[in-house]
Amino acid sequence: MKLIKYFSTKLLFSLIFFLLSPMFISVLAQGETESGGIGEGYYNFIILLFVLLIVVIFAFLFLFGMKEVSVEEEELQLKTAKVPNKHLQKIRQFLTRSTPIEKETDILLEHEYDGIRELNNRIPPWFNYLFIATIIFAVIYFFDYEIFKSSPSQIQEYNMEIQAASLQKEELMKTGSFLDENSVTVLDDIASLNKGKEIFTTNCVACHRPDAGGLVGPNLTDDYWIHGGGIKNIFKTITNGVPEKGMISWKSQLNPKQIQEVGSYIISLYGTNPVNPKPPEGEKYKGE
Ligand code: HEC
Repeated sequence: MKLIKYFSTKLLFSLIFFLLSPMFISVLAQGETESGGIGEGYYNFIILLFVLLIVVIFAFLFLFGMKEVSVEEEELQLKTAKVPNKHLQKIRQFLTRSTPIEKETDILLEHEYDGIRELNNRIPPWFNYLFIATIIFAVIYFFDYEIFKSSPSQIQEYNMEIQAASLQKEELMKTGSFLDENSVTVLDDIASLNKGKEIFTTNCVACHRPDAGGLVGPNLTDDYWIHGGGIKNIFKTITNGVPEKGMISWKSQLNPKQIQEVGSYIISLYGTNPVNPKPPEGEKYKGE
């Protein structure tokens, strides 16, 4: 008997965990994708734990209430029964309000089928409460979603997320977070070039001169480049700088979009022939 109980306990619990594990994994994975804060996955996880707890309690009560005896034995046992574990009995009593074993003869029903007799037990209060809770939940849910429409429907939630994502995307586009030295392209619209000019005037003229003819830094309007011409090379030089030569890295002060703008502005100055330029440095650049 003890052995059967032991193995059936094991079997039941493995079964429960086996059935619930995919839910667990998906819920946890959901939680992980959440960027900071308490995500939806977290609440699902709590609910899941709660369900699991109820299942475990139920399984517990079921297993320890199990008996495997013949009718004669049963009646004998019922008369002479001793409470095996007081604490367990108390918890069980609290949750089920079941008739104590000593008094089970009182609720034994008359009929008998193939030696099987029935106890007329009360419906356990926990089960009743659960039932009432589902009704209350249904009413609240109905009013919330169908009458007042105070919580968003699934489609509304979806649209809200899409909207938030597009705002985020717009923000990222604005700062040029998608840009790097491989994807950057030359901008030639007036607005961008004006922004580029502004950035150049604020940050670069001290070393490259307002007309970019070169001072401390090289002439940026000619064919000669130390680190290569073209937007990709220029973007790279401005982003990383050449610190050992006095050209700092600008990536902490300018975002990729701004670097693209000032780089494009520099390219727009090609061939402007400023007066008294710094002599060519580097090599003649043959790329675009
Ligand atoms: C403190 C002086 C200084 C400032 C400010 C400065 N630069 Fe430079 N820059 C240099 C020096 C010096 C070099 C040459 C580096 C070398 O010799 O490798 C250089 C090189 C460059 C080059 C590469 C030129 C080539 O021939 O390959 C670019 C492009 C450039 N700077 C753009 C900028 C831009 C854009 C800014 C403003 C955001 C800026 N620089 C601000 C000093 C400066």
